Amino acid sequence: MDAEKAIINRKSIRAFKKQIPSDEDLLDIVKIAQKSPSWINSQPVRIFIAKGDKLDAMRKEHKSINENPDVHTRSDLKFTPIREWDIESQNNMHNKRKADLSMFGNKFDEMKQVQSDNLFDAPAVAYITLPNNYTEWSLYDAGAMSEALMIAAQDKGIDSMPAFEFVKYPDRLRDNLGVRNRSFVLGIGLGYRDENNPINQIEGKRMSVNEVAKIIK
Ligand SMILES: Cc1cc2nc3c(=O)[nH]c(=O)nc-3n(C[C@H](O)[C@H](O)[C@H](O)COP(=O)(O)O)c2cc1C
Repeated sequence: MDAEKAIINRKSIRAFKKQIPSDEDLLDIVKIAQKSPSWINSQPVRIFIAKGDKLDAMRKEHKSINENPDVHTRSDLKFTPIREWDIESQNNMHNKRKADLSMFGNKFDEMKQVQSDNLFDAPAVAYITLPNNYTEWSLYDAGAMSEALMIAAQDKGIDSMPAFEFVKYPDRLRDNLGVRNRSFVLGIGLGYRDENNPINQIEGKRMSVNEVAKIIK
């Protein structure tokens, strides 16, 4: 598969099959993603991959926390309500919501909640972390490495799901994974898409290239 195909074929997968990617493939994907650039080659990202019994226990706990009305999200990166984003981003988010509702009707929210509670049934989750005193430039590095990781996975036929959902309760992640002094930026579910689950028909439409890029000569 060439780079363009891997990039185009990647999409967010919200329901995975039970088949588990091998440790060798997972480490190989990270090794390839390590080729992404970072500020003065600082390489600030550390990745913790949960799978097997560990992830199953975390999945159960995640569902029970999500169902507890007294516990609220406390992500390490600030959660910004939609109304506080720039207006064009708000419009894109509203358009996505409209498209999702027109595809699935009013059962959409429930379908999505079930999958979110179950961590999308992902058989492996890569947690992208930075040191607690990370700089804004390191957030760039974490994003670049995350995309490289998902494209390297796609190249091996492994699907992915980048999600805030995975890092909603970072204190629990620190305990469960034995991680200290690091901030959880994002979780990436890894596995094989369940073609039979309609939730995977969700599409993320893109703006036209002329709206996002200008060549100035
Ligand atoms: C930082 C980040 C956080 C995300 N968090 C979630 C999430 O919590 N739940 C979810 O269903 N999708 C989440 N997504 C997936 C986006 O909705 C998705 O990338 C976007 O709609 C474009 O669709 P595509 O990835 O299928 O191309 C997240 C994506 C990113 C980059």
